[in-house]
Amino acid sequence: MTKKLLILPGDGIGQEIVAEAVRVIDCLKADFGLNIETEQALVGGTAYDASGSPLPEQTLKLAREADAILLGAVGGYKWEELDISVRPEKGLLGLRSELDLFANLRPAILYPQLADASTLKPDVVSGLDIMIVRELTGGIYFGQPRGVRELEGGERQGYNTLVYRESEIRRIGKVAFDIAGKRDSRVCSVDKANVLECTELWREIVTEEARAYPDIELSHMYVDNAAMQLVRAPKQFDVMVTTNMFGDILSDCAAMLTGSIGMLPSASLDINSKGMYEPIHGSAPDIAGQNVANPLATILSVAMMLRYTLDEAELAGRIESAVSKVLDDGLRTRDIHSVGMREVSTSAMGDAVLAALRA
Ligand code: IPM
Ligand code: MG
Repeated sequence: MTKKLLILPGDGIGQEIVAEAVRVIDCLKADFGLNIETEQALVGGTAYDASGSPLPEQTLKLAREADAILLGAVGGYKWEELDISVRPEKGLLGLRSELDLFANLRPAILYPQLADASTLKPDVVSGLDIMIVRELTGGIYFGQPRGVRELEGGERQGYNTLVYRESEIRRIGKVAFDIAGKRDSRVCSVDKANVLECTELWREIVTEEARAYPDIELSHMYVDNAAMQLVRAPKQFDVMVTTNMFGDILSDCAAMLTGSIGMLPSASLDINSKGMYEPIHGSAPDIAGQNVANPLATILSVAMMLRYTLDEAELAGRIESAVSKVLDDGLRTRDIHSVGMREVSTSAMGDAVLAALRA
């Protein structure tokens, strides 16, 4: 059956990097028999400019009908002054919550070819392969009540609410344990159980859930220590599972261990493995439109999509090998460039991946 893919380039470099990923998808359709129908729509600031909403009804409708979604990035200086309810980020958050994409998988893998792009010593990061499993539709990002209120005397107070139901903790715990079972069978659950009741419950439920996985080794870590351990000795981790906000922070930290956030894909899955795929990096408005952004994270997001939603692991492997090949050949976009390597543009990187795919 033909699967449906919705393409949402979004804002900033989202446009350029998604264009390269679309060329890869077109190549898979033309040369490798991938059976997929694609459609494009607006999200984020560009959607706001066109329609007054960062997540137009039509986009949400297409997203609901799609089997998978490929998203570039949202946000930019231009929209920073808007009310928070219509900022580009709301488009992304709305998709996550409307589609119940609760499981966010963020791998941090160090490509051996890029070992010297990391700011950490090579022996600390070589061979790094961490999977961060971030809860994506709950926690303080979505908890009610939220807002800014006026106190007696006129001073304003901002407030947000950190909430997790047992069922939300259980389902993300399961995802982490299942993934660990296909890797090194170790899960580190990250919380702040020494201070926050909500994450004390998190720890309790994750521990309970682990009983169904006798072969998985479960450990717990406070988030401050986890941040420190990530830069001190990151290879101690296999799978990390954590709340929405802690996962947001720790995944940027883990990404940078690999040298460039421009290399890392992500998947956001619902309970049936329908997914939205996007690079971890943002819209980088400072370099947008210059043809210098790194398209590899988006191209690797396509590989994740083939693996997790479309059941095309073989094609996913082909993309990953093609990316590895262009890195072997010394091609580097600016963000991962180092002495002796050839600096190439966004589109030249796309050309090289296509050539490697077809080779
Ligand atoms: C991310 C981003 C988003 C988040 C923003 C853009 C809303 O930082 O995907 O990590 O905070 O989740
Ligand atoms: Mg983030």
